[in-house]
Amino acid sequence: MTASDPPALPADFLFGTATASYQVEGAVTEGGRLPSIWDAYCRTPGRVARGETGDTACDHYHRYPEDIALMKELGVGAYRFSTAWPRIRPAGDGPANPEGLAFYDRLVDELLAAGIEPIVTLYHWDLPQALEDRGGWRVRATAERFAEYARITADHLGDRVRRWITLNEPFCSSFVGHAVGRHAPGTREGTPALATAHHLLLAHGLAARELRASAAAHGRPVEVGITLNLDRLVPATDSAADRAAVDRAETLHNRVWTEPLLNACYPDNEAETWGELADGSYRAEGDLATISQPLDFLGVNYYRPTKLRDAPHREPDPARRTAMDIRTEEVPFEGVRHTTMGWPVVPSTFTDLLVDLHRRYPNLPPVLVTENGSAEEDRVDADGRVRDTDRIDYVRDHLHAVAAAIEAGVDVRGHFVWSLLDNFEWAYGYDRRFGIVRVDYDTLERIPKDSYHWFKELIGRHAARH
Ligand code: NOJ
Repeated sequence: MTASDPPALPADFLFGTATASYQVEGAVTEGGRLPSIWDAYCRTPGRVARGETGDTACDHYHRYPEDIALMKELGVGAYRFSTAWPRIRPAGDGPANPEGLAFYDRLVDELLAAGIEPIVTLYHWDLPQALEDRGGWRVRATAERFAEYARITADHLGDRVRRWITLNEPFCSSFVGHAVGRHAPGTREGTPALATAHHLLLAHGLAARELRASAAAHGRPVEVGITLNLDRLVPATDSAADRAAVDRAETLHNRVWTEPLLNACYPDNEAETWGELADGSYRAEGDLATISQPLDFLGVNYYRPTKLRDAPHREPDPARRTAMDIRTEEVPFEGVRHTTMGWPVVPSTFTDLLVDLHRRYPNLPPVLVTENGSAEEDRVDADGRVRDTDRIDYVRDHLHAVAAAIEAGVDVRGHFVWSLLDNFEWAYGYDRRFGIVRVDYDTLERIPKDSYHWFKELIGRHAARH
């Protein structure tokens, strides 16, 4: 980025970086941590590329002081990380684990000493395996256990942490985990997958109450949000069938979350989307009131748009139908660059998504872009540098897209680059690199990429301008 094209963002715009516990911490058997569903999934042959696991990951559990020093040098105002439920309350219920809490004490204290705000996500997909063994998110009791874990964590860290994100991308926890089967626990289910979506929303609502009750009991300030990976869905053609396909996908990807959270109702086209799978058997009176408490902010993760068409031929045998089978199929975006995830890069769709959200929900709370970034074909040159110009272009263009949304009236307060470090990219393992800092997985050495230096300069220019 050059001085000629910094995005015009508000003076108090928050720049940050993000990570998640299982993707960076490692140390999976240390400090009293017990297995999560991801430890189990990684150990199931054929699930994760090359049989990789989060056992060591970036060893952030031990190397966090070095990582925080990198963030301090970068100049970010905040770090979004997740606490691991299997560290804090390893069996999912029962006593809290002081060693687990002590790790997050060290992390938070080090961040504060570096002048960086800690923003905590309570659930970034590492459900204690002990709870999965009792039904996991398919059962309502898991939402109650989550609220207890939220309370324990908030009572402990709430004197230093003000902003809390209950869940990260519940779409992935429910549908990628229980319907596509490409994330833990790796099943392909119908109604039970829809039950997981509902119980995750309920878990959010119950936890939001506990976070606020903890803050009130201790006289502390608190802000509660949730992070959704909202999709910008584009019909392949203007035909009625393709537009109807996008309507169903809107419900599967977006409205299943935004309608209960922001409108206190369920999407009106559930029957059209899921047929008899959406039987509501998992819902109870009062749930919507719990789910729809006001949010202090909405976290949005955004990476790419999706083009879809109607696919009537994809009507599976009803006995094997999963919650992902909504008679649509993805169509490639032509003429745009794709990242190593195979994701099309179309930054203007981010503006469209934010503006549309703002128009659709008049009560939309302030938005934090809690993740945005790209996986690229990074190479360490002979001089030791990683010249990741594609990533620089990606982040710069998406920051411009955010600036355009703000210009159009959307209240966006911050942006977190995914990710600070290359890390464990779930089923893809370690060969998809999202970091602005390279991790050499043989030595665990951190090598700031060109994007890191560019981002530092951008933050500096922004500060100098205001
Ligand atoms: C969203 C997820 O929250 C994060 O865990 C993941 O690594 C990134 N997307 C990139 O796929």
